[in-house]
Amino acid sequence: MKRVAILADIHGNMPALYAVMDDLKEQAVDEVIVAGDLVGRGPEGTAVVREVVAQGWPCIRGNHEDYMISFCRGDIPDAWRVDEGWAAARWMASELAPDALAFIAALPFSICVPSAPQIRVVHGSPLSNTQGIGSWTSDEEMLEFLGQIEERVLVCAHTHRPLHRVFSEGVIVNVGSVGLPFNGDWRAQYAILAGQEAEWDVEFRCVPYDRGALFAIYEESGFLAWGGATSALLQKEIEYARPFLVPFLQWAEAKGLSPRLGLVQEFLAVFDPNLPMRDFFALLQTLQKE
Ligand SMILES: [Fe+2]
Repeated sequence: MKRVAILADIHGNMPALYAVMDDLKEQAVDEVIVAGDLVGRGPEGTAVVREVVAQGWPCIRGNHEDYMISFCRGDIPDAWRVDEGWAAARWMASELAPDALAFIAALPFSICVPSAPQIRVVHGSPLSNTQGIGSWTSDEEMLEFLGQIEERVLVCAHTHRPLHRVFSEGVIVNVGSVGLPFNGDWRAQYAILAGQEAEWDVEFRCVPYDRGALFAIYEESGFLAWGGATSALLQKEIEYARPFLVPFLQWAEAKGLSPRLGLVQEFLAVFDPNLPMRDFFALLQTLQKE
């Protein structure tokens, strides 16, 4: 029987990664795989990449690797070089050391687990690293995704929300996020698959870590000071383990405003962290009518 740990969406959060590494010492796993988004949406992309390299963990490329590669190569629209809404992305790209950039640029889109070839690991879906598989995905779509791979087990991430679905045709496991969970539980999350051939049990691990240490890095690194609205809202995402940034962008668009730090307090006054998303979407529609 093999035990395989799969980590994803670390997003430059070293305190969360260290907590998971401590937890892994007790888990007797044969292998650790990283399913993308080591960088982006957090202050320590270079440190995360270097730690993953030092551990020798096989790794794939998430959409945030793609974004950072585009920023570092200057392969972006002119507006992104100056707009306040892209300040955090510019800061994170400038933080990324050449060795870290070279590593992420060489990553594959997907891999089979070397010690368990029945398991295919992708970041989003088998066809795209920006297409998330979540509780909202229909059974028909899930079976389509399983039909797009040769293996029996499809492991994915990207949504920052853990998920486990079993079909007679195969199994889908979304491992959740180490550094930026969106399922309401702020702890660092990953999954361990234990089994062999077609039979795999899934254990979702949730590991507490020191968020104060992360927020100190936000301040000391300059990420908070230079990242504008994005960094301020990412801090909220860490605090509440749910999205703030995308709702803010949708809210600003509905009001016809360009997203900037000066709007964050106004947004936070209407975006109650306990507000169900459907109520938030209803609020956006009323703004669009005004
Ligand atoms: Fe992500």
